[in-house]
Amino acid sequence: MAEVKPLVGVIMGSKSDWDTMKASTETLAKFGVPCEARVLSAHRSPALTAEYASSAESRGLEVIIAAAGGAAHLAGVIAAHTILPVLGVPIESASLKGLDSLLSTVQMPGGIPVGTLAIGKPGATNAAMLAVAILAVSRPELREKIRQFRAEQAEKIARETLAS
Ligand code: RP5
Repeated sequence: MAEVKPLVGVIMGSKSDWDTMKASTETLAKFGVPCEARVLSAHRSPALTAEYASSAESRGLEVIIAAAGGAAHLAGVIAAHTILPVLGVPIESASLKGLDSLLSTVQMPGGIPVGTLAIGKPGATNAAMLAVAILAVSRPELREKIRQFRAEQAEKIARETLAS
């Protein structure tokens, strides 16, 4: 059977980020978008990280989601080595609850963009949804899946009841 090529790379600075970043891979799976997940660190494995980003486009990836916590340079370093859209997820850190990660990821200098999402799991989920939206620009079947998801979400809210 032919191997399905990943369209989205989900990378994270440490295995300890995986619990959060499963929300990205699970969301991509819901939309039927093939992805790969890897640990790569801007600080601990800088050469490997640069190599991954530099070769991403030629390997067929179209979007990269990069998550890191603390002094979170991963998304910025990835963006420096590729022209693919890079979506940053700030991991909730123990000491500063992810404010450090958020500021490190979001405050990129002009010229090298990182689209930064919310801290933690909501950000991981939305990074995947945004990746799907980016891919959907040229894929009508994905646009239809997004419309369906939104309709189901709205219906669910409309059905909510509250105990008195
Ligand atoms: C960052 O440092 C990682 O993204 C992780 O969120 C944080 C802590 O890493 P560990 O010490 O748990 O490996 O690079």
